[in-house]
Amino acid sequence: MCGIVAYIGPKNAYPILIKGLKRLEYRGYDSAGVALLNGSLQILKKEGKVSDLENFVAGKSTEGTVGIGHTRWATHGEPCDRNAHPHLSNSGNLAIIHNGIIENYAALKTELELRGYTFESDTDTEVLLNLIEDIQKEEKISTEEAVRVALNEVVGAYAIVVIEKSKPDTLIAARKGSPLVIGIGKGEFFVASDASPIIEYTKNVVYLNDEEFVVLHRDGNIEIKTLGNIQKTPYIQKLEMDLEKIEKGGYDYFMLKEIYEQPQVIRDCMRGRMNAEKGWIKLGGISEFANRINNAKRIIITACGTSWHSGLIAEYLIEELARIPVEVEYASEFRYRNPIVNEKDVVIAISQSGETADTLSAIQIAKDRQALIYGICNVIGSSIARASHAGSYTHAGPEIGVASTKAFSAQVTILTLLALQLAQSNGSISQSRLRQILYELEAIPSKVEGALKTNDKIVEIAKKYKDAKNFLYLGRGLNFPVALEGALKLKEISYIHAEGYPAAEMKHGPIALIDENMPVVFIATNQSAHEKIVSNIQEVKARKGKVIAIVLEGDTVIRGLADEVIEVPETDELLSPLVSIVPLQLLSYHIALMRGCNVDQPRNLAKSVTVE
Ligand code: G6P
Repeated sequence: MCGIVAYIGPKNAYPILIKGLKRLEYRGYDSAGVALLNGSLQILKKEGKVSDLENFVAGKSTEGTVGIGHTRWATHGEPCDRNAHPHLSNSGNLAIIHNGIIENYAALKTELELRGYTFESDTDTEVLLNLIEDIQKEEKISTEEAVRVALNEVVGAYAIVVIEKSKPDTLIAARKGSPLVIGIGKGEFFVASDASPIIEYTKNVVYLNDEEFVVLHRDGNIEIKTLGNIQKTPYIQKLEMDLEKIEKGGYDYFMLKEIYEQPQVIRDCMRGRMNAEKGWIKLGGISEFANRINNAKRIIITACGTSWHSGLIAEYLIEELARIPVEVEYASEFRYRNPIVNEKDVVIAISQSGETADTLSAIQIAKDRQALIYGICNVIGSSIARASHAGSYTHAGPEIGVASTKAFSAQVTILTLLALQLAQSNGSISQSRLRQILYELEAIPSKVEGALKTNDKIVEIAKKYKDAKNFLYLGRGLNFPVALEGALKLKEISYIHAEGYPAAEMKHGPIALIDENMPVVFIATNQSAHEKIVSNIQEVKARKGKVIAIVLEGDTVIRGLADEVIEVPETDELLSPLVSIVPLQLLSYHIALMRGCNVDQPRNLAKSVTVE
């Protein structure tokens, strides 16, 4: 939800800002802009992607060794040049970039207007900047002090960076609820929404905490204070990210690269956490709280989007294996409905980015009510990881494609291990069954490789169905969440309307939609429901629907019925989502590509949703 990047040091800022913005584009791509200090305060901004900004800037002067840059996901005000960041204060002395939402901006704006301020944009950000300027002028205080006072007056979430025309040797940044990382180089500083714009210059970073602000000086001095004006000592950490992991590595799109990374991601996710031969599992995060989790009255899983789908899979797994009751809640609903949660509950929060505002707020509510919070995040050091009492990282590496793929597989892998570890420690699984599943888990990466081999077949299927207006995805049991995830992938990147349903529910409504123009994707890899799925396929065929079926290798029954069959390797039924999701990801990828859509940056979406 908006990406921000800033630089101060001896180099020209512009190329660093542009490169950084490209890495942060997954966070939003409605407009992009930079502000550079070079005697004057120069602002260059444009509606569209970072490449549109580059074209606009070509040929113009881009001097300046201090600068700020922004890529926007619109909240207040339509995407257009005028609403693009950076914004300038009324005096022209201050410029700001902002990721987040200032909720009380309307009241602040009215007050400022009464005092003679005018606004060029419809954004909440411009209001915040003029509030800072007004405080600075009225109270005759330094800009950093004015930033601190202003931030104490606003309600909402923000990561901001402010530069001042008359002070080219200083950058001021602050955060609350939106992420901010400071890179500490030799005689230079970087600020960004995540570490990806920083990694090629320095591995030394400081993660700013909520309600802290930092003043970075060109002479290398760094001052961190809380909004309550308490001095903090910077805690410098070493980044573990590799540059090559955030590049396309020969693939045309990040999404395709990330789909193909899944076998390795699953291996990395399991490494050191299990051993089939010895029959052990050890998720470091659980051990300390194993008793509390096993004695939990129930487990509540909360998440959004794709992460919510992996939560649904976990519900099946934990109830089946560990026999602990599980409820899965959309974080956005959970947080607003006064949920009954107490110290006997365990809340598992799942989030790739670890920054999703709704999930973070849901955690806060559960924490206030004394529940134990177990975070499952991909981004190390993210807000949700830090707000949790315990947790496990998925170790999927940076996921750049906006539509989540490898992060989903890593989440399902971790959740499977978690269910197995709980089952083992509360004695609800026999050692032989545990070993059997662990052996199957060890074989999953090679089975996912097998599923990736369906790619050519899927290209052919995509050609036939790319112009469909609607799709239905149906599955039973563990394949129901897979159907939801398959439908989500298709609508996210190809803009085709798609719905996921439990196959048995088809007869209660969706069946009315079926005619010769309706492709229905059946995820039919669960042997236990095979006959029932076959009946559902027949019901669709009887109404002239087109059936695309994901089946186990050698399934002659469904091959005889379906229009298209995609065969994937067999595994233990409990692990089948890890294999059957792969062709669905590929199907949506190829259809989107054939329809001319930008698969990595689908319209209107952002990867990290830090607004409510
Ligand atoms: C956004 C993304 C989705 C993602 C969801 C939850 O909507 O576009 O791909 O699944 O947020 O994100 P999280 O980072 O919390 O998993």
